Amino acid sequence: MMNGAELEILEARLSSFGQQHLLQFWPQLSPAERKELFDEILNLKLEEVTQFFKRTMSFSSTDQKKLDDRLQPVADDVYGSALRTNEDKLELYENIGLREIANGTVGVLLLAGGQGTRLGVSYPKGMYNVGLPSQKTLYQIQAERIRRLETLASEKFNGIKGNGIPWYIMTSEHTKEPTLDYFAKHNYFGLKRENLVVFEQGMLPCFTFDGKIILETKSKISKSPDGNGGLYRALREKKILDDVERRGIQYLHVYCVDNILVKMADPVFMGFAISKGADCAAKTVEKTFPEEAVGVVCKVDGKYRVVEYSEITLNTAKRRNDDGRLTFSAGNICNHFFTTEFLRNIIDNEENSLMHHVAKKKIPTVDENGKTFVPSAPNGIKMEKFVFDVFQCSKNFVVWDVVRDEEFSPLKNADGAAKDTPTTARHDLYTLHERFLRKAGAVFVNKDKSIIPPLLNGLNGTTNGQEANNNDIEKCGMKRPEVIVCEISPLVSYSGENLEHFVAGKTLCQPFTLRAPEE
Ligand code: UTP
Repeated sequence: MMNGAELEILEARLSSFGQQHLLQFWPQLSPAERKELFDEILNLKLEEVTQFFKRTMSFSSTDQKKLDDRLQPVADDVYGSALRTNEDKLELYENIGLREIANGTVGVLLLAGGQGTRLGVSYPKGMYNVGLPSQKTLYQIQAERIRRLETLASEKFNGIKGNGIPWYIMTSEHTKEPTLDYFAKHNYFGLKRENLVVFEQGMLPCFTFDGKIILETKSKISKSPDGNGGLYRALREKKILDDVERRGIQYLHVYCVDNILVKMADPVFMGFAISKGADCAAKTVEKTFPEEAVGVVCKVDGKYRVVEYSEITLNTAKRRNDDGRLTFSAGNICNHFFTTEFLRNIIDNEENSLMHHVAKKKIPTVDENGKTFVPSAPNGIKMEKFVFDVFQCSKNFVVWDVVRDEEFSPLKNADGAAKDTPTTARHDLYTLHERFLRKAGAVFVNKDKSIIPPLLNGLNGTTNGQEANNNDIEKCGMKRPEVIVCEISPLVSYSGENLEHFVAGKTLCQPFTLRAPEE
């Protein structure tokens, strides 16, 4: 326990950084609370965090001027599109990706350190069950997609060298232990234990707008993870990139935990990026309308970055090309490719100079009596780096645009919100799986054996002679439910392959689930 002299030293240190208020409740604290607070303050790198605060605030106020005049869209020669690429080329990319997986040079890295405040659950978002018939959580779905992909690569190239695809999971203070326990309890969902590497990102204190560190309780400092761009610091400090290099991994696919449709280590995306010699790449989906609040990948002063909707004027957001498509349409979905070499350079030479961004938030804090409350308006900031902040360091950046319905449905909010909820995630998965099944030759019927028509505005049209148009459907009086409940286990199919021998020519009733024999 600290003595009076140590307390004085601590007080002096705090006041030299303008943070002496952190001890304001000291006389009221129990010995245990005093120890908690003393340790927290000792562990704060005060010089560094107050410097971050100053740098972040001055950067954000000078950077607010609109970027419109400095913006350029993604250049055509680095902009690939899954929709506009022919089948042969897609197969070529896929084979490049699968070959690298078989060579043991591909890893995946999941960003799962967020607090999931909007979804409002107290456990890691990856453990969320959106209510599929299988009751699988996001973590389980992702684990099984990795297993299936290993099988595909192995079948195509006669085995996999080394250990298969390592899965790195970045967690934070709150999500690390539950994540580790969860995987252990479920026997790593069939993955090799040594292929799962869970590590923790850094935390930073929250500040009031005038630079005071916020107390969450009388004896606890308010802290939050340092953003998904905290990845780079964690890769260095937790020696994760050393592990990546030791395993001979040359390419990493980095993605967010909350996209239920995510294609882990998508061989087509990986193959596209590798064939272009890219060191860094982003998968995007087309922005659907000018006001959509999505960040777009574009060039600013000649360097690639993501520009948020709030940083540009509506006029710029509305700009269209001759073909009618939005000029700034490459919607960022936090789905990236990096070479290990690129990441090595980032963590050795660039990470320190990447700026934090300001997130103004309602941060729980104490009143003058030391009682914790949640303010009704933002009272301070969290400082966060973003994973895409490194695009500007790329020497060969490419973009791969994919179909939203096939690849992107994020879980952000609790049910009841207008979008990105458990229900939308579940429905988007059903819809995609319905298309896969129809493409493989399945026909869906109601209980009375009447045929359920396919979706109309389908991906690449609809399927196998089941196409219909609105008029046909109305004429026949055919009605379809909003979604057909159908779920294909990722252990059976990664992206629609391997289904014909199960379902071709079969009539399926909902709910329909297709499981692997071992399930
Ligand atoms: P979001 O910005 O959507 O944040 O994260 P969130 O924590 O999931 O949800 P809210 O905003 O609190 O409601 C996008 C991705 O970045 C990860 C998240 O886990 C998610 O996969 N992330 C976010 C981190 O890994 N670390 C962070 O510090 C923040």
